[in-house]
Amino acid sequence: MGELIYRPSTERDHPDVVAALHSWWDYPEAEARSSQRAALVPRLFFQHFTDTSLIVRDGNRLVAFLIGFLSQSRSDEAYIHFVGVEPRSRGCGLGADLYERFFAVVREHGRRKVLAITSASNTGSQAFHRRMGFTVSDPMTNYDGRGGAHVVFSREI
Ligand SMILES: CC(C)(COP(=O)(O)OP(=O)(O)OC[C@H]1O[C@@H](n2cnc3c(N)ncnc32)[C@H](O)[C@@H]1OP(=O)(O)O)[C@@H](O)C(=O)NCCC(=O)NCCS
Repeated sequence: MGELIYRPSTERDHPDVVAALHSWWDYPEAEARSSQRAALVPRLFFQHFTDTSLIVRDGNRLVAFLIGFLSQSRSDEAYIHFVGVEPRSRGCGLGADLYERFFAVVREHGRRKVLAITSASNTGSQAFHRRMGFTVSDPMTNYDGRGGAHVVFSREI
């Protein structure tokens, strides 16, 4: 791997992140849900949430990303909407690094709590979040009104 560049997201990153949402997720139902995942990350995230979203590139190659935002309604909270590390770069601390960088950014805005969700069947994501100090809720069925079950992650920062 070459030198990694970390920076806030821009609109130009959107197509690569959509492609990653289709191909990087690997839990049992991930492939069937790839269009749903991509639909959850419209271009507006790359227009209106750029200061709290991070892109990692090696040259032109997208290596990792985190899409997060400050809660508009809960003044002490921030939310991580999606995080992904390309399969070949996992297990090297990149995901943890992105989270620590996000925590630092949102602390500057007075945020003290970070939330996220994942599919109940995404056990890798749950292991990662536990390791990052998040509590994991019991599975909640039909959490987003589209069937399936999700778990909610929560951590004080
Ligand atoms: C989840 C994900 C972002 C983790 O990224 P990563 O760069 O591999 O994570 P790190 O190397 O920083 O790991 C941090 C810690 O979590 C642990 N961890 C990460 N993934 C794990 C897994 N699948 N199973 C068990 N532990 C895991 C690591 O072992 C490490 O613990 P350690 O400090 O004791 O060594 C990455 O696997 C990924 O992109 N998965 C597909 C997309 C996804 O599911 N995103 C989350 C839902 S939006």
